[in-house]
Amino acid sequence: MTNQQEDASTTPRPRATVARIYDYLLGGKQNFEADRRAAQDILNKVPAAANLALSNRLFLRRAVQTLAEAGMRQFLDLGSGIPTQGNVHEIAQAVDPEIRVLYVDIDPVAVMASNQILHGNLACRAIEADFTQPDRILDALADSDAVSIIDLDEPLVVLYCSVLQLIPDDQIDGIIAPIRDLLVPGSAMVISHVGVDVPDRWGESTVNQATDVYRTQAATDIYFRTDEQLTALFGDFEMTEPGLVPLDRWRPELSEPDPFVAASMRSPMRGAVAFRH
Ligand SMILES: C[S@@+](CC[C@H](N)C(=O)[O-])C[C@H]1O[C@@H](n2cnc3c(N)ncnc32)[C@H](O)[C@@H]1O
Repeated sequence: MTNQQEDASTTPRPRATVARIYDYLLGGKQNFEADRRAAQDILNKVPAAANLALSNRLFLRRAVQTLAEAGMRQFLDLGSGIPTQGNVHEIAQAVDPEIRVLYVDIDPVAVMASNQILHGNLACRAIEADFTQPDRILDALADSDAVSIIDLDEPLVVLYCSVLQLIPDDQIDGIIAPIRDLLVPGSAMVISHVGVDVPDRWGESTVNQATDVYRTQAATDIYFRTDEQLTALFGDFEMTEPGLVPLDRWRPELSEPDPFVAASMRSPMRGAVAFRH
């Protein structure tokens, strides 16, 4: 074996991450070879995976616009991802340039890319933190970096878009409730999530192969949830119209068409926006 071969075999390669796989599925450029390989493996099993990501982004855009127009002035985006077109602050600040947004992600690439595009935007910032540790998130909100952006005494929008399917059932309440339950009246939550009917749609074995890619290449499992389980995540919050629905059914007139409308089948993801009264 030559030295070169030895070097290549011992140099650690970056692992794929959910943020960068998702970036690739959306046509972004902030991804590495390992992410592209994992994303391609997923697309080989479930070609609609790219449409799932797009459908989710379009829902997020419509939800943020609706909430900004309803008067919400601060947004906490947990598991915010790598910036792409139609980021939360772009949609919200088009309604009111003073709207404040704090992005939180565990992936340093996502945080760095977010802070690059937020440069000079004093109302918005991205921080690296783990939303599965709500105490740490609450500590981070009190930090000097974030305290000028998020005020927990005022109504706040908390977004969990396409992130909670990474969390096992026995942990999810302990992750969501500590933040949800201290939000003041007038606050809102946005959740989008892969629905439980996904294995029926594309076949259980095909979907298992796709989720295996996440497990083996990005070290995460994917959990599908029923509408009943998703409704429970909102606690005492009350859903606005049209409730918890396939994403393509949530106020579709507010964005470009969801890809699943053309595909003649509903989006396999569910989403809802809910308020605390
Ligand atoms: C599928 S992407 C969704 C991005 C964005 N929310 C959206 O809807 O377009 C999931 C994001 O959650 C982030 N994430 C996963 N686990 C996390 C954790 N424990 N804490 C913070 N971010 C996390 C990933 O890094 C990734 O950026």
